[in-house]
Amino acid sequence: MKFVIANWKMNGDFELVNQMMSEIGKGRECCKVIVCPPAALITSFKGFEHDLGAQNSFYEEKGAFTGENSPKLLKDIGCKYVILGHSERRAIFQESDELIFKKWNAAIRFGLTPIICIGETLEERSRWKEVLSAQLANYCADKSLDLQGTIFAYEPVWSIGTGKVPSMQEIEDAIGFIKDVIGAERNYYVVYGGSVNGSNSAEILNIHGLDGVLVGSASLKVSDFKTIIGNASV
Ligand code: PGA
Repeated sequence: MKFVIANWKMNGDFELVNQMMSEIGKGRECCKVIVCPPAALITSFKGFEHDLGAQNSFYEEKGAFTGENSPKLLKDIGCKYVILGHSERRAIFQESDELIFKKWNAAIRFGLTPIICIGETLEERSRWKEVLSAQLANYCADKSLDLQGTIFAYEPVWSIGTGKVPSMQEIEDAIGFIKDVIGAERNYYVVYGGSVNGSNSAEILNIHGLDGVLVGSASLKVSDFKTIIGNASV
């Protein structure tokens, strides 16, 4: 069963929520659809037949942390997943691997399944293995650490929102490398993100060892998103 994860980023409105709710019903597909809208829209998905995720959560349950979202409250309002360490959060909000790992721990503690984003920038492309290894180090220091179904999203930063996608072989190599670093016999998944759309999703979803896709801009267009879901269901 493949994952199709929608990352709306800071986009979407009530109209899009309603459109998504009425057009993406259960039963037409056999993949795992997860929609991650902005936090302010999460409770508008009342009765949604798929899973919901947040785009970020803090490492404490509550307290004097103005502007942050509590992982416990996100769970309470119906989220099952949370995206952590997206490249936009790493670049714009200076999130470090250590901070992301603290958030990972808190998400797990409150019953959210983390979607951890990793990936190299264009400048780092020639040493992508080194970059991915460093971003994964906290999850690999102790191989007995229970990853509890964590979804690792390989998202080359140069591919996000640019329309540029690595070759299928490059993605397959990166997925294989990530699995080698994390190790077999552990409870986790690996998906790809970066300019996935209706037209390229069938080929991408066919990549050996890949558990699904994380979709940004194409997840805001219901018809594109439905095509991706269809391609993940075959
Ligand atoms: P994109 O975004 O599909 O628009 O490239 C993916 C992401 O940032 O998760």
